[in-house]
Amino acid sequence: MEDDDEINRFSNLLTDEDNKPNAFSTEQNDSPNHELLQKHFLRSIQSTVTIRLLPSEGLSFQLWPAATSLVALLDSHRINPTNSPLSTVFATGAPMRILELGSGTGIVGIVAAATLGSDVTLTDLPHVVPNLKFNAKANAGVVGSSGGNVTFAPLRWGDAADVEVIGREFDVIVASDVVYHDHLYEPLIETLRLLLVGKKTVFVMAHMKRWKKECVFFKKARKHFCIDVLHVDAPCNGSRVGVVVYRFVGKG
Ligand SMILES: C[S@@+](CC[C@H](N)C(=O)[O-])C[C@H]1O[C@@H](n2cnc3c(N)ncnc32)[C@H](O)[C@@H]1O
Repeated sequence: MEDDDEINRFSNLLTDEDNKPNAFSTEQNDSPNHELLQKHFLRSIQSTVTIRLLPSEGLSFQLWPAATSLVALLDSHRINPTNSPLSTVFATGAPMRILELGSGTGIVGIVAAATLGSDVTLTDLPHVVPNLKFNAKANAGVVGSSGGNVTFAPLRWGDAADVEVIGREFDVIVASDVVYHDHLYEPLIETLRLLLVGKKTVFVMAHMKRWKKECVFFKKARKHFCIDVLHVDAPCNGSRVGVVVYRFVGKG
């Protein structure tokens, strides 16, 4: 992906030291691409999801803070759905068809499939799909034991043909840390319009605010969607803000 150097996962807000994850463990192996295998234990299903990260290949191959927050919320939702911020989205308890945009490593979609027993389609730019495939296959056992299923496909924001191929029959769209470069605001909103407007589909977006310019995304998005806040994470040590989880529904 272009412009990778302009952004790091905690830029303007946090140092990596402040954000040392404690909910997962990471192992590095000696492969030429310096891959990392990260193990996330899900209390709700007493199972571990393992994700391959390829940090040397760019920001699409790393785990971002909003993804970690959404994973924790999905795990808590499965334990106690009544008191969960996600209860209005996953209200029925019935399996749902879920689409993830800008999946990166795919962990959010994989955990959604495993904790909700849902059919999930992971998507990202074409060059990211092989790693999505790897991670989907690595976790097929855990996901299958919960009655879920994970597939993967390329979906470039703003590309109507990609949406046509995947279809528009989803109950919920999810994404984490997808608002960052301003040239991506319009394409992302266009894809969301195709998927949400005139339908009951809900979009759940976990977002870590980094720059003031991000208010432009929300201003543009509010023309097409009603947006409310489902959850705000407490800021981690040293940060000014925590991850916010929004719900979007199409107007009209
Ligand atoms: C900051 S990363 C977040 C990744 C992941 N959701 C997470 O939270 O760990 C943004 C993701 O959006 C994807 N992305 C960027 N531009 C895109 C576009 N035009 N179409 C589809 N995906 C895009 C990137 O490849 C990347 O995986």
